[in-house]
Amino acid sequence: MRIKKVEITNFRNIKKASLEFSSGFNFITGLNAQGKTNLLEALYLFSLGRSFRTRKREEMIALGAIFLFLRMVVESDSGVEYILEIGVERDGRARVKVNGDKVKGFSSIIGLMPGVIFTPQDVAMVSGAPGERRTFLDYTASQISADFLESLKVYRRVLRQRNSQIKEMAMGRRGGEIMGALDRVLVDKAGELVKGRIMVLGEIRKKAAEMFRYVFTGGDELEMVYISSIKQTGGSYSELFLSSIEKTRDEEIRRGYTLKGPHCDDIGISIGGLDLRKYGSQGRKRLVAIVMKMAQASVIKEKKGESPVVLLDDIFAELDNNVSTRVKEFLSERYQNFITSPVEIAIRNRREIRNFTIHKGVITEQSDDVEDIGTGAKGLGED
Ligand SMILES: Nc1ncnc2c1ncn2[C@@H]1O[C@H](COP(=O)(O)OP(=O)(O)OP(=O)(O)O)[C@@H](O)[C@H]1O
Ligand SMILES: [Mg+2]
Repeated sequence: MRIKKVEITNFRNIKKASLEFSSGFNFITGLNAQGKTNLLEALYLFSLGRSFRTRKREEMIALGAIFLFLRMVVESDSGVEYILEIGVERDGRARVKVNGDKVKGFSSIIGLMPGVIFTPQDVAMVSGAPGERRTFLDYTASQISADFLESLKVYRRVLRQRNSQIKEMAMGRRGGEIMGALDRVLVDKAGELVKGRIMVLGEIRKKAAEMFRYVFTGGDELEMVYISSIKQTGGSYSELFLSSIEKTRDEEIRRGYTLKGPHCDDIGISIGGLDLRKYGSQGRKRLVAIVMKMAQASVIKEKKGESPVVLLDDIFAELDNNVSTRVKEFLSERYQNFITSPVEIAIRNRREIRNFTIHKGVITEQSDDVEDIGTGAKGLGED
């Protein structure tokens, strides 16, 4: 997939922009607080089905404006063009259209424009709480499989219902008449979720380890394992989950929520056998987060058969020169890339490069009449 064009009206500090992009590299440079991340946020809306920064859509509308509007022309790997449009109003109402036809809502477009984003906050995927890592797996699996996304939605809904049922029981208001029915759906969906996550992690793990080896030749191995809150002792996951729930029912009522299940699982990440979360340096954690995102892009491409658009927000901060050079080498040839940075980035690449600068939300494409863009625009040749 690639984004050919975008028209932006009133998106945060970007009042008006009409841009055409390269199918290779698009560099967006600008000082702090000029709108670089805002642009990526707008482009990524169609992948995530919502903003990656806020759950309040109206926050994305430019201050003082009453609506925002985005129109994108994207092209699939097979050459099919789609026109994607999003309008958001002050009351939070959103209208989404694909090729002129209204679609039901933001979440129904997840996966339509496969995308992978890396932002500085993504280091939390490595150093933060388990929820960050679960989200990473769930997002990857949802981009690949609509069935997984459906199971995830049902699991979350049933989990919420089940938790409120447990609270009612704890207060003596209910006797748990529907618990049996809820449990059956819960364990069934949980089985599908865990299966999907383990499959995705298996692929991510292989690719991430390979890339990590490439960056640190001869160094320690990067390892990832799925940590399940349900002990795997033979039998299907759903059966084990059900028997675990039955055993802990009284404790659940005492504590007021569902104690175990896919919503408590985690990924263990280690380098050379040492837990990265506890022992890793900041730069190393950041590198592993980048490597995980690169692996994610590769898995989406392979399993979905469509290349994701890759959006990299200030990716080189905190990486030393050697590591940056290596990362640039595998900054794939295979995807359309959008790369923001406060400083100009040197990169050697044969694919078309387009350079944009952004100042107070005004985006300007830099002309490339000084050197041949095929081998590197002015200041971009790397030696
Ligand atoms: N709804 C909005 N309306 C108008 N301006 C907004 C809105 N939301 C954010 N901004 C402005 O956008 C700017 C921040 O943009 P952004 O986060 O894209 O910066 P950036 O270029 O990525 O900077 P940095 O290099 O610090 O990450 C700020 O000046 C902020 O005031
Ligand atoms: Mg930013």
